[in-house]
Amino acid sequence: MSLVTPVTELLGIRVPVVQGGMQWVGVPKLVAAVSEAGGLGVLTALTQPSPEALRVAIRETKKLTSKPFGVNITLLPSITPPDYPGYARAAVEEGVRIFETAGNNPGPLIKYFKENNCIVIHKCTAIRHAKSAERHGVDILSIDGFECAGHPGEDDIGGLVLLARAARELKVPFLASGGIADARGFAAALTLGAAGVNLGTRFMCTVESPIHQNIKEKIVASTERDTVHIFRTLHNTARVFKNKISMEVVKIEKQGNAKFEDIKDLVSGERGRKVYELGDPDYGIWTAGIVMGLIDDIPTCKDLVERLERETVEILQSTAKLAGLEVRQKAKL
Ligand SMILES: Cc1cc2nc3c(=O)[nH]c(=O)nc-3n(C[C@H](O)[C@H](O)[C@H](O)COP(=O)(O)O)c2cc1C
Repeated sequence: MSLVTPVTELLGIRVPVVQGGMQWVGVPKLVAAVSEAGGLGVLTALTQPSPEALRVAIRETKKLTSKPFGVNITLLPSITPPDYPGYARAAVEEGVRIFETAGNNPGPLIKYFKENNCIVIHKCTAIRHAKSAERHGVDILSIDGFECAGHPGEDDIGGLVLLARAARELKVPFLASGGIADARGFAAALTLGAAGVNLGTRFMCTVESPIHQNIKEKIVASTERDTVHIFRTLHNTARVFKNKISMEVVKIEKQGNAKFEDIKDLVSGERGRKVYELGDPDYGIWTAGIVMGLIDDIPTCKDLVERLERETVEILQSTAKLAGLEVRQKAKL
């Protein structure tokens, strides 16, 4: 039994499971492991310091897998934006044909990728943005509910409503993203109309994930109550791990009129990267989602994808597994 959907067909993968772009985490080793397992691994372009470094990472990934993989380009609000066109061109020239875009104003990037016959998955947190991306010609949408790690947008709509709305409104296939770590979530997403799932935090906590073992163990030990939203007052909300630093940021924001300058040092990306390198969960800000409450092991990507596939098929085949639900024939009077 296997789960064939428009997403597996479009992407040329076996299981409709995508590993979303993850800053400092979406590197060749993890990406190749996800793709080898039958899902779609996605390299995070901005983890590489330059378009040239992205070329090297793409070549490295190709040495590790001959299966399809993608590249994520995240358009962040920034005073000095990274060389987005340069990253995009480098990836296209290296033969990448699948892209995950995320963030503000993706129109020009989507246009460039479509002109180069690429498949574009656009990740967003609002139906209006999904419909706009659809008009730009994306092939797949990734609908990120409020549960997600990272940037959930400012509308605060959970996946249950967002996905049902997506099923009503969108013409192209969509992935359910945010809050999924097990077969229950996977099966629910498919039932809501998604053609697959996009996972972040769950893949962060695998054998092949490049982060320090202490942080993986911290994820296992944490619950759904261990994240917090920072940057709410700056209208750039981010769900991150709840630690001393993120709570300090929230405290400063709560004082009112906080500017980015006031928290800049606390939230520096370099400190966040060091968390993964040193294994100290309190060293800086790091991204994680409430699915931590559903994560209790550190499997290989192969074991994880196989388990997700097997158990999801089981659930979908047997409604009795859904909270003891039984569908009985009405008794004849
Ligand atoms: C450590 C980490 C870093 C992330 N970095 C990015 C990023 O750079 N760009 C992006 O589009 N999404 C990023 N995300 C979001 C994921 O791609 C995905 O949308 C999200 O994790 C889904 O929610 P989940 O963690 O509940 O599965 C990140 C997530 C994590 C856990």
